[in-house]
Amino acid sequence: MSGSKNLWGGRFEGVADEGFASFNRSFGFDRKLFEADVRASLAHCAGLRRAGVLSEQEAEQIRNCLQTILKRAATDASYFDELPSEDVHSFIEARLVQLIGDAGRKLHTGRSRNDQVATAFRLWLRDEVDAVAESLRLAQGALVELAEAHREAVLPGYTHLQRAQPVLWAHWCLAYFEMLQRDRVRMAEVRRRVNVMPLGSAALAGTSYEIDRAAVARELGFESISRNSLDAVSDRDFCIEFASASALVMLHLSRLAEDIILYSTTEFGLLELSDAVATGSSLMPQKKNPDSMELVRGKAGRVYGHLTALLTVMKGLPLAYNKDMQEDKEAVFDTVQTVKASLEVAATVLGNVTLNEERAREAAARGYMNATELADYLARKGLPFREAHDAVGRIVLRAIERGVELDGLTLEEMRAFSPLIEEDVYAALSLEQTLKTKAQTGGTSPARVAEALTAARALLDES
Ligand code: ARG
Repeated sequence: MSGSKNLWGGRFEGVADEGFASFNRSFGFDRKLFEADVRASLAHCAGLRRAGVLSEQEAEQIRNCLQTILKRAATDASYFDELPSEDVHSFIEARLVQLIGDAGRKLHTGRSRNDQVATAFRLWLRDEVDAVAESLRLAQGALVELAEAHREAVLPGYTHLQRAQPVLWAHWCLAYFEMLQRDRVRMAEVRRRVNVMPLGSAALAGTSYEIDRAAVARELGFESISRNSLDAVSDRDFCIEFASASALVMLHLSRLAEDIILYSTTEFGLLELSDAVATGSSLMPQKKNPDSMELVRGKAGRVYGHLTALLTVMKGLPLAYNKDMQEDKEAVFDTVQTVKASLEVAATVLGNVTLNEERAREAAARGYMNATELADYLARKGLPFREAHDAVGRIVLRAIERGVELDGLTLEEMRAFSPLIEEDVYAALSLEQTLKTKAQTGGTSPARVAEALTAARALLDES
């Protein structure tokens, strides 16, 4: 860059130090914004034309030239490397000037790279937010299919990672479906605040040209225009909100990953990953490792890092634009790429997981997971729940001593703890009955879960 012409020419007599110039340069990564910046430039050109700043002939020249640049970039892989540029905005301007001279120099009238970068970044992110939402939908679809693949299956449910109460397998799948549904709604909300146009704020004070900002915004599909120029050029809340919503997506995927990893250990033995999404060991021939989900779990840390970086970069900045903000790009770019890839891999893994139904049923029927059911049985017969809980605790202790499950005790043995217990207790303690009674909305009874599956399908089809 040393010796070459900068965007700021006149005021400067010396040339930039090469080390600093390369430190200052963002073109290596912000070229991702190329198409968005050309789009915004086309709309700005139309705005300048309507304001009478450009003649029709100049506007026409600029439009054609921007189209040419777009085409070149799409067909020629080395196009971006021909001119050394500081950033994507100076690259496009240099190309315009190179091809059409003075008309190209006029396009920057009434705008600054400060409102330009905010506009291009928002345009770019708007599409990516939609792409993330679509990836979320596909992952949700994989969860619904996995639920439907084992419609009748049960699973031991855990709290504190200790066996707690049996649940339907589909109920577990739909728990993750709910998390991803909230993520999808969150992304839609983030999109609304991304979809505000800063263009027309210029460097910080607004523009003195009579550009119809609302018309430019309409052309670019923005829902509204920013109301304060100082805020508009220095606001990166939209990046932080996106990173934050993404961090939650990754948190949910990471918990899903943890469950899948844990359930596929020999110790749990509930799930099996197909060879397509597992790896072996270079040393231990017997190994089958869940690398796919371990990487998803690991990448959550990476996205949290980006969120922290963005918050930290912004926290002490005086109004308005500061170059610190150039640091926003790589954090957001990598967040987009990581979240999309993680969702895709998670969906693939969900399509490559098999539940060992028999073992899951066995596990769900053992470990006194019906003890709560027995307490509820006594409570329904009039015993205060606290007392019922206490009696059942003692019954469990007796069963443990005897080395049997609750239904392995005789009626007499149980009645010694409460005369309210009768012959019908055995039916109440069955796995089927335990599940069936959880019949309120949100519960794991087969009827409620079937409804929830239908509702989940409907949610997927509706958007
Ligand atoms: N490349 C810069 C960024 O990403 C935009 C340029 C604004 N630079 C400036 N010196 N005003 O933030």
